[in-house]
Amino acid sequence: MAKSKTRYQCRECAAVTTKWAGQCADCHAWNSIEEVAGEPAGGGGSDRFSGYAGATSITNASDVVITAEQRVTTGLSELDRVLGGGLVPGSVTLLGGDPGIGKSTLLIQCMANLSGRTGTLYITGEESLSQVSMRAQRLGLPQDNLRLLTETRVEQIIQHAEIEKPGVMVIDSIQTMYTETLTSAPGAVAQVRESAARLVRYAKQTGTSVFLVGHVTKEGALAGPRVLEHMVDTVLYFEGDQGSRYRVIRAVKNRFGAVNELGVFAMGEKGLQVVSNPSAIFLSRHETPVSGSVILVTREGTRPLLVEAQALVDESHLGNPRRVSLGLEQNRLSMLLAVLHRHAGIAMFDQDVYVNVVGGVRISETAADLPVLLAALSSFRDRPLAADLVVFGEVGLAGEVRPVNNGEDRLREAAKHGFKQAIVPASNQPRDPIPGLTVHGIHRLPEALDLVN
Ligand code: TYD
Ligand code: MG
Repeated sequence: MAKSKTRYQCRECAAVTTKWAGQCADCHAWNSIEEVAGEPAGGGGSDRFSGYAGATSITNASDVVITAEQRVTTGLSELDRVLGGGLVPGSVTLLGGDPGIGKSTLLIQCMANLSGRTGTLYITGEESLSQVSMRAQRLGLPQDNLRLLTETRVEQIIQHAEIEKPGVMVIDSIQTMYTETLTSAPGAVAQVRESAARLVRYAKQTGTSVFLVGHVTKEGALAGPRVLEHMVDTVLYFEGDQGSRYRVIRAVKNRFGAVNELGVFAMGEKGLQVVSNPSAIFLSRHETPVSGSVILVTREGTRPLLVEAQALVDESHLGNPRRVSLGLEQNRLSMLLAVLHRHAGIAMFDQDVYVNVVGGVRISETAADLPVLLAALSSFRDRPLAADLVVFGEVGLAGEVRPVNNGEDRLREAAKHGFKQAIVPASNQPRDPIPGLTVHGIHRLPEALDLVN
C-alpha cells in the first residue's frame, strides 16, 4: 500500500495537489489551498486496486447485459420530449434558469403527476413546507403521496432517502445544499460540486431519478452548477424572457436524447401548461404585412418550428452604427451584412441594424441566415415580404446559399400552417412537390433578392 502523503486541496474548486501554492493552478483563486487530512474529498481510495471484494474488473463489451431502458412519463408531454421521451430511472437532470422563471413550479407539477405511480420526494432548501404545499394546493395537484422535506445537509438528505426510497427526488436548489465534510459556505463551487457528486452517486447506486435545480448568474452561466454539467446526464435550461407568458426549455446536454430539443410551456393560473402546437405561438400574425418581418423555419432538436424574426434598419447617427441581435448571434449578423454588401451590393454601413426573434426563443443554427438578411433588406427598403412566405438557409461568405438539415420536414411544417411559398437552398428542394406550397430553390444570395423584389 502506498505511503500516506500530505495532500493539499483548493477550497474553491476542490483541485488536489501535492504541494502548497499561493494560487490554485486550476481555478486561479488566491490563498485557497489548504492541507487536507487523509483522503481528499471526492478522491478515490487506493484500495480499489487491491483485489478484494468490491474491486472493479474489466469486461468485454459484448458480455455486458443490457437492460431495456424503461422511461417514466412525467405527465407533461413537453418535459418528456426534452428528456428524450420520458424520465430514465437512475438519471440525474440539472434544471437551470433565472430565479422566478418557473423551475419549482415545473418540478412540483411533475412530482405530483408522478406521485401516483412511484415514490416521490421533494426536498426544498429555499421555501418552507407550507409554501410548497400551498402552491401545490393552489395548482390543484394531488398531494396525498407527494412527500416533502426541508433540508440542506446532503448527508441528512441521503439518510432520509435511504429510508424513504423514492423513485424520483427533487433537490431545490443545489446552491442551498452543503456537505459537512467541507467548511466553505453553501453555494461555493466546492460545496455545489461535492454535494452534487454525493447525490449523483446516490442516484446511480439506487436507481433513483434525481432533479437538481440550479440558479443562473447574470452572465447567463449556471453559477456553480456549470461545473456540474459533466457530472449529470441531462442539462435542461429555461430560456425566454420572464415578461412573456411562454417558457421554453432547452436540452443543452442529454445522454438519453437529442440535444437542443425544445419544450414549450405557457405560464398561467394553473402553473405551467404544455403548448402542443408551439409553431402557432411564435408567429405574431400582423393584420397587414409589415416590413422587416420574416417567418423562418428552425429545427432545434427533432422538431421543426416556425418562428418570426424581425429586423429594423434605421439611419445611424453614430460613428459606429449599432448591430443589435436578440435571439441570434451578434457576430453572425455583422458577417451576414458584410456578405450582403459584397455579393448583393447593398450597403448598411451607415445604418443601425436591430434583429429580434419573437417570443424570446434563441436560435442556434445557421438556417436563420437567409431569413435575417431578407428581413433586414425588407426593413431597409420599407417593403414587406409576402405574408404567406417562409424562408430558411445558411449563407456562406462567398454569397452561396447552403443547405440545412431536414429541409423537407421544415417545408411540411410550413405547409401545415398554411404558408404558400418558400425560399430555400436549392439542395433542400423536395423531390416530390408539397401540396399547396411553391418552393423556390436558390443557389446564391442575389437570386433570393430577385425573388422578393
Ligand atoms: P417559481 O417556480 O417559483 O420559479 P423558480 O423556482 O424558477 O425560481 O416560479 C414563480 C413564478 O411563476 C412567479 O413569478 C409566479 C409565477 N407563477 C404563475 O404565474 N402561475 C402559477 O400558477 C405559479 C405557481 C407561478
Ligand atoms: Mg424555486
